[in-house]
Amino acid sequence: QWTTASIVEDQIAAISAQVGAGRAICGLSGGVDSAVAATLVQRAIGDRLTCVFVDHGLLRSGERTQVERDFVAATGVNLVTVDARERFLDALAGVTDPEQKRKIIGREFIRVFEQAERDLKAQGDYRFLVQGTLYPDVVESGGGAGTSNIKSHHNVGGLPEDLAFELVEPLRLLFKDEVRRVGLELGLPETIVHRQPFPGPGLGIRIIGEVTADRLATLRAADAIAREELTAAGMDRDIWQCPVVLLADVRSVGVQGDGRTYGHPVVLRPVSSEDAMTADWTRLPYEVLERISTRITNEVAEVNRVVLDVTSKPPGTIEWE
Ligand code: XMP
Repeated sequence: QWTTASIVEDQIAAISAQVGAGRAICGLSGGVDSAVAATLVQRAIGDRLTCVFVDHGLLRSGERTQVERDFVAATGVNLVTVDARERFLDALAGVTDPEQKRKIIGREFIRVFEQAERDLKAQGDYRFLVQGTLYPDVVESGGGAGTSNIKSHHNVGGLPEDLAFELVEPLRLLFKDEVRRVGLELGLPETIVHRQPFPGPGLGIRIIGEVTADRLATLRAADAIAREELTAAGMDRDIWQCPVVLLADVRSVGVQGDGRTYGHPVVLRPVSSEDAMTADWTRLPYEVLERISTRITNEVAEVNRVVLDVTSKPPGTIEWE
């Protein structure tokens, strides 16, 4: 019988067996997956785990603080923050192809980690890298038998051949709902356990077109408003996630005050799902959609249009890239 408690117990034992007396690095993304993976590993090896948080500049508003303040407060883990915002922007300059973006972000991510490992190795024998890879990631990246590669998820595909770490993946057999139950079992706060999934490549794959600092600021502002209003309306548990996508290469004409505008649309992509393998578009109340639309177009200067994605998965994936 696979109870949540037995999953926790088994994984802690498996991690202890794999890592032995070694040391591990765990990248924290701000999401539930890496938080649960890190907490499991900390239960197994304690202070021999060091968490590394990379601010790749593709984060949503407030996420860095949530990791540095809330997660550390809840678990007491050792945390190192690396500010790599410039590096990622440089690497993504001029890139518009979705798969290329994913590969670049994944590659830079690993390189930053390898640098973090070199820095940490001065203090101890860090040979293991913890990742919060879930079962659907494994399947969609072609890791499962008889499946095709739909998108290269950056925590599975696109790793360099000379990867200097042995991977520890305690969530590899789990679906999202199971990960959340494990998180609660481990005593993580509800705010972390029920945070909506956010892709590793972050806002980089929610800007359709080239990723620039200005576009990131625009999307971050629109996304923060959408999340605020969904939370205020008590919708967080009704939706799986609601990506906000900036159509950076599209402009449309609008009017505001006395003036003509020529701005960008953002797309709201609210979805309901059990495990992200399939999804339905969420029928959000019109009043909530109206508040989000009004606030975004009033408060985010570059955005003059808000549109709603009413496509299920399949045929649409949840993310646009
Ligand atoms: P798609 O777009 O494939 O997304 O329907 C399914 C779920 O996975 C998330 N996602 C990712 N998660 N690394 C991740 O850890 C990634 O590269 C990645 N791409 C998509 C997405 O947000 C959705 O929850």
